[in-house]
Amino acid sequence: MRTQYPLDEGLPEYANAREYDEDNPWGPSDDFYLGLAREVGGPVLDVGCGTGMLLRAIAADGAACAGLDVTPEMIERAEQLSNEAGLNIDWTVGDARTMALGRSFRFIYMTGHAFQHLLTDDDMRAFFERVKEHLSDDGVLAFETRNYAAKTFGGSEEPTLWKTVEDDEGRAVDLLIGAIYDPNTGVEQLIEERVIRTTGARTRATSNLRYIAVDELNALLAEHGFEITHQYGDWQRGPLGTDQPEVISVCRLASTP
Ligand SMILES: C[S@@+](CC[C@H](N)C(=O)[O-])C[C@H]1O[C@@H](n2cnc3c(N)ncnc32)[C@H](O)[C@@H]1O
Repeated sequence: MRTQYPLDEGLPEYANAREYDEDNPWGPSDDFYLGLAREVGGPVLDVGCGTGMLLRAIAADGAACAGLDVTPEMIERAEQLSNEAGLNIDWTVGDARTMALGRSFRFIYMTGHAFQHLLTDDDMRAFFERVKEHLSDDGVLAFETRNYAAKTFGGSEEPTLWKTVEDDEGRAVDLLIGAIYDPNTGVEQLIEERVIRTTGARTRATSNLRYIAVDELNALLAEHGFEITHQYGDWQRGPLGTDQPEVISVCRLASTP
């Protein structure tokens, strides 16, 4: 089943959903969220679900699942792949800041660093408010952001090789990344290039990602009534530290007196 409400046109950098899947195979973050989903139980909502690879694994485990993403091409592919797999998942094209699905979930997560597409404090506030509206009383919210403290800003603006992947025609494709960081806004503009080695064909896309210091993030969570039950620094549930790559937050709604 698929629903749509026209609030945004999606993010252009995610319009090629097949390429997204080629560039982003299953990884340790998916193991982490699949494990957490098994511990917490369903129903499960994946916000910024992309093409739904992780959600399909959670649904295959038996939990009732829903996925929401602002980019229509991502939801289109998510729906196609879940239908092919014979999985019943609710898909919605919509914005994390304004979502109104009309039901509640025991586990809500946002991964793939989708949280960093919330570019301002107000965007984050709106997301936390919407999560509150969709979370059951004993529910869990989990999401991650790359660690501001561990980030070496001022990296090369000129894209340099990140990794090489294989496309669906079996061709080697070099992925190159460059970045321009604005310390005033905490927003980094990422420049991503794909180069097909055999032909030299090159495509370029840009995207914006917000970096927020952990103290500021935790203050926002508290302001919206979330209690942090765990905050990890890596996908093996290691402690948060200034040199750890991630800030992975697992939260519950604080009980009201
Ligand atoms: C890097 S992808 C992550 C996709 C998936 N979660 C994963 O782990 O592969 C970021 C996704 O977030 C979505 N997104 C960004 N801002 C959003 C918003 N405000 N509401 C809903 N989805 C959003 C994008 O369309 C994109 O599909």
